[in-house]
Amino acid sequence: MKKASKKTPADISEKTSKRTPGKSAEESRAGQPGEKGLQRLDKLLGQEGLGTRSELKKAIRSGRALVNGAVEKDPGRQISSEDEVCFDGRKVRGDRYVYYMLNKPAGVITATEDGQMRTVLDLLRESVSRKGLFPVGRLDRDTEGLLLITDDGQLAHRLLSPAKHVDKTYYAVVTGTVTEEDVRLFAEGLRVDDGFTAMPAVLQIMESGTCGNAPEKISTPETEDGGQYTQTCVTIREGKFHQIKRMFAAVGKEVLYLKRLSMGTLKLDPSLEPGQFRELTEEEAAALREH
Ligand code: URA
Repeated sequence: MKKASKKTPADISEKTSKRTPGKSAEESRAGQPGEKGLQRLDKLLGQEGLGTRSELKKAIRSGRALVNGAVEKDPGRQISSEDEVCFDGRKVRGDRYVYYMLNKPAGVITATEDGQMRTVLDLLRESVSRKGLFPVGRLDRDTEGLLLITDDGQLAHRLLSPAKHVDKTYYAVVTGTVTEEDVRLFAEGLRVDDGFTAMPAVLQIMESGTCGNAPEKISTPETEDGGQYTQTCVTIREGKFHQIKRMFAAVGKEVLYLKRLSMGTLKLDPSLEPGQFRELTEEEAAALREH
């Protein structure tokens, strides 16, 4: 299991836990993270090389520092590992939010808690103690692949907003032979059932057995004994309930295996085994915020 690579209060504490010779106990203590991992704002900025403590005190009092988006004029403000700090318009440290990509395994439900079944959050809780995390959108219990887990409600709202049309690409293995006619129907906007006509979607028939990081061979009772099946990639711009399965059902096929490969700019890391997760890189998180 991959672990989050962020600094923890304990990391910071290790560097700052020694008392500085020649300073009062109070002064030495002032810059150290406390028991709850808190650290003075001026000390934190000093560690980033942004000036001496007296320069930074002045700068903070003149309104050049922001904590969680609000001007903070108190140099002694206690900063926790969850606070975002900006100085002169530049993010200095701390993400208010955290972002994980999980390669969801089959058999786990997309929920934060469940009395009976294992949830995607249970997979993270084994090594991440952060509160307030939730999955962005939903994958069916038998669907695998990319699931974003965060505590950033605004970003989640934007990614899921029907108005934003964020592309989601899936690898799907379906029964039967997918035809160019199916490709055309998906592209035109398939009438799925009485209540739902899908937006235009891109359906690709895979020539070889590979699509991104998809498994090469799917073996199910339906495909044994010479049963026909087709490997495909589908990109949709909405996220309706069982959407991919319903779209294929509308053209007479059953989905045997489904895995999400990407959501917007975010692509599933092929090195993550089902059940593994990692934090997003700065670049991945920044690109997602652009949506
Ligand atoms: N479409 C489906 O049918 N199931 C999923 O899990 C995701 C998209």
